[in-house]
Amino acid sequence: MRAQQIFRAWSPVRARQQVAEDTYWLELEAAEIAAAAAPGQFVMVGFGMRGWGVPFLPRPNSVAAVLGERIGLLIRVFGGGSRRLAGLRPEDEVLLLGPLGTRFQLGGAKAVLCVAGGVGLAPFLLLPRWEPLKRSGAEVRLLYGERGAAAVFDPDKIRELTGLDPEIWTEDGSLGRQGRVTAGLDLKGVDLVLACGPPPMLKAVRALALEAGVPCQLAVEEHMACGVGTCIGCAIETVDPETGEAGYSLVCSDGPVFAAERLRW
Ligand SMILES: Cc1cc2nc3c(=O)[nH]c(=O)nc-3n(C[C@H](O)[C@H](O)[C@H](O)COP(=O)(O)OP(=O)(O)OC[C@H]3O[C@@H](n4cnc5c(N)ncnc54)[C@H](O)[C@@H]3O)c2cc1C
Ligand code: FES
Repeated sequence: MRAQQIFRAWSPVRARQQVAEDTYWLELEAAEIAAAAAPGQFVMVGFGMRGWGVPFLPRPNSVAAVLGERIGLLIRVFGGGSRRLAGLRPEDEVLLLGPLGTRFQLGGAKAVLCVAGGVGLAPFLLLPRWEPLKRSGAEVRLLYGERGAAAVFDPDKIRELTGLDPEIWTEDGSLGRQGRVTAGLDLKGVDLVLACGPPPMLKAVRALALEAGVPCQLAVEEHMACGVGTCIGCAIETVDPETGEAGYSLVCSDGPVFAAERLRW
């Protein structure tokens, strides 16, 4: 297998738009990363030594779209780093490293259910237009959960990016169906479940998929410093499904996408 190519370059911001409460859409010019990125993979976004401001370390963000020579990122503000990214203006530059990490594997699936919580939506904005998925002819359904309507990424923009009609769930019932997105999980006829979102959601999806015997892959998040497997800062407990042997894996380079049975949850 060919080694995955990783690119590092200053990348100009070409578009920025607020798309929901505390949530921003950024388009960055990054031709090489755009050509190589696959769903599930991420980029480390930073400022190098420019400014010495917050954050000192780059921050991981999923590649949410490939638009010609641009990549799209869906950024939700949590702390200083994401606030600085969200405040970027067209023509500002960021230092990108990527694409990094593992991608979702289709494995011949014909009915794929994607379950997104919050900005865990990002990889599923990219997946439906991904060439290997289009070639496979698989049918894709997208469930998307948020706290409430104010946090929901514009359903029309989701349709434009993915060609899919998302099934929206909000915890307070202010848009779409009321409840957690996992309440809508009907695995009948599904032969692959893919999920990305907060850990409680991933754990619930994992449990349901394992119980139903449906293959499931989860995109996991951890704090990251390097993004390339050298700092060992993103280790999580995993298990070898064949031998049952417990150990550790690095979310940045062994993941972020893991088969459900590999996670020791
Ligand atoms: C592979 C991967 C892909 C990601 N994709 C996206 C994306 O598409 N869009 C998006 O908005 N965010 C994404 N994230 C999360 C994003 O990296 C964090 O929100 C960001 O690093 C927070 O940095 P900060 O400086 O704003 O917050 P900090 O000040 O560093 O932290 C603010 C709060 O967020 C928590 N936090 C920080 N980083 C993480 C993390 N990686 N996982 C869990 N909790 C964290 C901290 O514990 C703290 O409570 C992704 C993370 C990973 C690992
Ligand atoms: S972030 Fe450094 S090893 Fe994963």
